[in-house]
Amino acid sequence: MKRYERLAEDVATLIRRGVLAPGERLPSVRQVSRSRGVSPSTVFQAYYRLEARGLILARPRSGYFVRDQARRLLETPGISPVRGAEAAEVAVSELVFSVLDSLQDADTVPFGSAFPCPGLFPLPRLARSMAKGLREMGSEAVVAGMTGGDPALRHQIARRYVLGGVRLPVDELVITNGAMEALNLCLQAVTRPGDLVAIESPAFYASLQVLERLQLRAVEIPVDPRHGVDLDVLADRLGRWPIKACWFMSHLQNPLGASLDESRKRALYDLLVEHEVPLLEDDAYAELHFGPQPPWPVKALDEAGLVMHCGSFSKCLAPGYRVGWVAAGRQARAVARSQLMTTISPSVPAQAAIADYLQHGGYDRHLRRLRHALESQQQAMLAAADRHFPAGSRVTRPEGGYFLWFEFPERVDSLQLLRLALAEGISLAPGPIFSATQGYRHCARLSYGHPWTARSERAMVRLGELLATF
Ligand SMILES: Cc1ncc(COP(=O)(O)O)c(C=O)c1O
Repeated sequence: MKRYERLAEDVATLIRRGVLAPGERLPSVRQVSRSRGVSPSTVFQAYYRLEARGLILARPRSGYFVRDQARRLLETPGISPVRGAEAAEVAVSELVFSVLDSLQDADTVPFGSAFPCPGLFPLPRLARSMAKGLREMGSEAVVAGMTGGDPALRHQIARRYVLGGVRLPVDELVITNGAMEALNLCLQAVTRPGDLVAIESPAFYASLQVLERLQLRAVEIPVDPRHGVDLDVLADRLGRWPIKACWFMSHLQNPLGASLDESRKRALYDLLVEHEVPLLEDDAYAELHFGPQPPWPVKALDEAGLVMHCGSFSKCLAPGYRVGWVAAGRQARAVARSQLMTTISPSVPAQAAIADYLQHGGYDRHLRRLRHALESQQQAMLAAADRHFPAGSRVTRPEGGYFLWFEFPERVDSLQLLRLALAEGISLAPGPIFSATQGYRHCARLSYGHPWTARSERAMVRLGELLATF
């Protein structure tokens, strides 16, 4: 990272954490230049960059100020206790499918979407990598890369783990059809029908559908929007129930955006070791952090091979290519074998394209741009919610990803809100699809994954008006 980039990241972190408050004047260029020992032009470059990201603005002859957009009017929701039985049969698929079907219309304002705007991805550059990968692929490669995955791609992924501080034998890596296949294979490797699996509450809806399909029972562990999964509750449940696996997200949890800090990751790992319970660590949003450094996963601590760390290119580089992976610890062989018996392998050309792109395409540059776009879109959505949503609404402020989780006053029914909003061409993801017991009725997940426009602003105004009718 260049000096001005590092300085910009440091200031952005201070703004995100509220140390530099909205409306506050930033230290002058001269002050920063002196205190950091960098040239005034480096400070200017850093401030220009923050201006372009929508975090600060220049006032003629007065200096630079934190933009008002980052105001904190709506409060952050607290942790919600899990309602209902401690171990639940899961039956959400019908609801999830009916909601997902209703979100298909490409003309709606896509607040319910699970993907960022395709225009934020380097699709033309990836297409060149695909063509090159295909041209250079020897005929034997079409089948050679089938077990475990394309060797060049596995090498590139292992390299990124090492750069992120995780030492990992390449043998542990299995390339999969997206993170979804990785998570399915891992769960099947460590459970049998009827087993108990600890999951988050609220949870990514597809994880609930997987449990339902495999006839597993969910032990829902509450997630704190600021600190991640509640480890006291987890310790209690692990002590009392024969839980066979945990399926958690340590970063940018979907839908809350919560991340575990380093001490909580260590405490979680200690619990897994104490109870000999494997962890499916779903890290699909790992690359979408707004802070300067990627946080390390629980996998980084994994001497015992208990952690199956699942990643994906779907959210950060190549949606639709269906390429993900798992670093599967002790289960690597079982996972690779079960893949051979089910889907055989992910598409070989898609793997070759991503391997070439990672090597030559400027992945880190693309990621920096994507993160900055998402961060300024988050600011815009937060500001619009502050302006237009009714008093008593609460919202998360995740340090990455592209989802906000809203907790509305109890009287709001988000399934009804969805129906009303769809009739006006606005989508959203209602709370009950994120719960094994269809809780969170007064909550919703909204995506800021698309560039912010006047249409987005109007949709927030209209949502605010609809909310006020409950
Ligand atoms: C939390 C989480 N895990 C996994 C996935 C699936 O990722 P992929 O598209 O790589 O299968 C998603 C996608 O929505 C997700 O949100």
